[in-house]
Amino acid sequence: MTGVEPGTVVASEATRPFLERRFALTPFTGIGGTAGTVYRLAGLRRTGLGLGEQLTPLVGRDRELEQLALALGHVKQGHGQVVGLVGEAGVGKSRLFWEFIESQRISDSLILVSSAASYGKAMPYLAVIDLLKGYFQIEPRDGADKIRERVTGRMASLEQGLAAAVSAVLALLDVPPADAQWSAFDPLEKRKRTLEAVKLLLVEESRRQPLIAVFEDLHWMDSETQAVLDTLVESLPGHRVLLLVSYRHEHEHTWGSRSYYTQLRLDPLSPDNAHALLDSLVGRDRATSTLKAILIERTGGNPFFLEESVRMLTEAGVLVGARGAQRLGRPPEEIQVPATVHAVLAARIDRLPPVDRTLLQTAAVIGKDVPIALLRAVANLPDESFHAGLIQLQRTEFLYETRVIPELEYSFKHPLTQEVAYGGLPQDRRRELHAGIVDAIETLHQDRLGGEIERLAHHALRGELREKAVAYLRQAGAKAADRSALQEAVNFLEQALTALDRLPDDRGKQERSIDVRLELRNALEPLGELDRNLTHLREAQALALALGDQRRLGWICAYQSADSWRRADSAQSAQLAKRALDIACAIDDRVLERYCTHRLANASNTLGAYSRAAELYQGVADSGERVELGRESLPVSVMAAHWLAWCLAQLGRFQEGRARAEQALRIAESIAHPYSLVAGHRAVGFVNLLRRNVEAAIPSLERALDICQTGNFSLLFDGTASALGYAYALAGRLVDGISLLEQAVQHPAATGTGFHSLFMSRLGEVYLMAGRVEEAVAVAERALVLSRQGTEHGHEAWALRLLGEITARRDPLDAEATEQHYRQALELAEPRGMRPLSAHCHLGLGKLYRRTEQRQEAQKHLATATMMYREMGMINWLDQAEAEVQIE
Ligand SMILES: Nc1ncnc2c1ncn2[C@@H]1O[C@H](COP(=O)(O)OP(=O)(O)O)[C@@H](O)[C@H]1O
Ligand SMILES: [Mg+2]
Repeated sequence: MTGVEPGTVVASEATRPFLERRFALTPFTGIGGTAGTVYRLAGLRRTGLGLGEQLTPLVGRDRELEQLALALGHVKQGHGQVVGLVGEAGVGKSRLFWEFIESQRISDSLILVSSAASYGKAMPYLAVIDLLKGYFQIEPRDGADKIRERVTGRMASLEQGLAAAVSAVLALLDVPPADAQWSAFDPLEKRKRTLEAVKLLLVEESRRQPLIAVFEDLHWMDSETQAVLDTLVESLPGHRVLLLVSYRHEHEHTWGSRSYYTQLRLDPLSPDNAHALLDSLVGRDRATSTLKAILIERTGGNPFFLEESVRMLTEAGVLVGARGAQRLGRPPEEIQVPATVHAVLAARIDRLPPVDRTLLQTAAVIGKDVPIALLRAVANLPDESFHAGLIQLQRTEFLYETRVIPELEYSFKHPLTQEVAYGGLPQDRRRELHAGIVDAIETLHQDRLGGEIERLAHHALRGELREKAVAYLRQAGAKAADRSALQEAVNFLEQALTALDRLPDDRGKQERSIDVRLELRNALEPLGELDRNLTHLREAQALALALGDQRRLGWICAYQSADSWRRADSAQSAQLAKRALDIACAIDDRVLERYCTHRLANASNTLGAYSRAAELYQGVADSGERVELGRESLPVSVMAAHWLAWCLAQLGRFQEGRARAEQALRIAESIAHPYSLVAGHRAVGFVNLLRRNVEAAIPSLERALDICQTGNFSLLFDGTASALGYAYALAGRLVDGISLLEQAVQHPAATGTGFHSLFMSRLGEVYLMAGRVEEAVAVAERALVLSRQGTEHGHEAWALRLLGEITARRDPLDAEATEQHYRQALELAEPRGMRPLSAHCHLGLGKLYRRTEQRQEAQKHLATATMMYREMGMINWLDQAEAEVQIE
């Protein structure tokens, strides 16, 4: 043969009808001199809709098919649509989609179908990965190089903008992207980009031809796939994409309100249609009519239930003869139809010869999709009985072939079939089989275990291979966390803990019990699950104490310090950080030491000990090292430089503060690390804002907020939004300012730092500017209470000064209260070196005394304020103070 590429599969006209059911065929002209047309296998069709081979002729569903066609019509006009098909198991959801797709196969649409296995909930992105594999025509045996070639090749042929999405897609397919920038991204940033990438890919593809994407059984889908769909749904209008999803009644989603969403309820077949279905399955023999009536009544018209009941009755000899021409084989009195489809399936499985039954149950332990190599490895049958068994199971329509190339794969006829087959196994047999599957996967996938981790974890856990279960669950947790699938990470890690519990109680176990809890912390903290996190930390602490394990105790203590800080208990946070720091020094652990120093600095910062905090931050910032800060894997020098700039600004050391902010920004830019970039830009903004260089502050803060939102960095949002809102207000944009400031105080529990009080004071000041005095009072009082609760002396001083500003505006003036507020603020600010705030209080007092005609006092305070502003280079404030002096 000439002209045939290696790997091409060609087929003759004779085999075409058979192959066409599973493969896309294109006419092939590469071979000369062959009789008849030759076709080229263009790839698996992968309808993936999990339907058996011998389909019963379709009954009913005209209305539903029409609605789907109508939706596609809109899509072709450029109006993207989502159709959600709801219905119980076996009612015909997959079948309807399949029929629709079949009707569109010759059309110009690209059709992508994804199916999710029932343990998919635990596997982040499972359904999306499945869809992508279909799109890129990636087969199970393809190695990393092949996948990379496929993905880059195909995406390069799409629009330019997609190049950046390549890394995200490769990472999803477990191929390490050769892209330094990608690995530097924060997990949240990776997640964001992954969602974007999948959406972009589909949307881009839909520019070439209408696209139909099918996601079945959403009720089994993991939260990340859900997020991909949400992102896609967001941008559907305006693109030629028809998104078809199906789910059972209990599933919830949030698309209901969208104008381009249609919900289709799929009801069981009407009695007439059920009759029609039975006519084609059983035939029209008069003697069967009572039986048919019983079946319709029993099944309520559920087509899967009907089909399985007929199979059961046929296997039991109640119905005899060929499909579609059956007679009663026994008197109707003996007929018993179980009340549920589960019972029907169980009865059918029971009747199988023992070898076949065992094979089916073994397959059920593997899952809904059953690769033959894996089944062979665990079934442990002589070749002959193995193949005979498979043929039998296909003939009885429990299993059907879904894949031929590169190796055979079978699927269960329906998820319920697998569920019931699995349920029929005794517990210890299940366990043995799961354990055997772990061995088999490890052997079969030796070189690419990465993509099998979740599956391995699933089987190891159920196979009670506890050591392996713990190891795989931890790996699965790490992998999920790396993709920012934090909820899934928590699930895996909590299962790891349960598995650990059952291990013999030795030191190794206890150490791992601690480590898993610390890994959990890295997912629970960003999820805002503070209480659950604290419980784990306490348990870890008890274990570490019992072991006398200093290094682990140190980390636990440091994380407890972080926890207290997030709960706005800075005093306790400082105490814990100190204790952890002592441990770090004693065991000479540099990484822990740096982490604790940073924690201690944070606590000092919110306690108002700005000089002390600055000293500590400086040590960390100057270390210049990129030390991983727990989960965030942050370049600690950037965060330290950023907070250092903040503290220096509070102290009125603006030149140094500016230098530090620029340092933070420089490092962040040099490593292109989004989280750090937020910190860098915002530090520059902070310093300018405190000096009231509003015009300079705004662009930096806007940049920071922008990156923060793109990266979904919820921990940085409040501080950034609050500063920008305040800057807008100072620039006269009160409405924009108030809106941002209000957002910044909306979810204190989520970000929960001890800055909430300060954000409240900023909001109060802006309410005052807007003349909303009563709201200003309420907010200021709340700020005061909060700051006192948290012994945040710096923030308390700001709240008191705000109360001074408010009472100073009251008519008639309450001079005594005003004076008191300013003086109390000063008493807190002065000893802490908070010179900008002190200057503001002097200015406030000066203005007050002028009004109360205490001229000397007034002059004294205004002079002090002027001098301080001048020294600190706070030009805009200086102008204001000098204006007051001139009025004098
Ligand atoms: N309208 C119909 N006409 C004929 N057979 C149907 C019809 N709807 C469903 N079936 C058959 O019933 C079985 C179950 O349908 P399926 O689509 O798998 O259900 P679901 O996806 O809702 O669980 C399949 O064998 C399918 O071919
Ligand atoms: Mg289905």
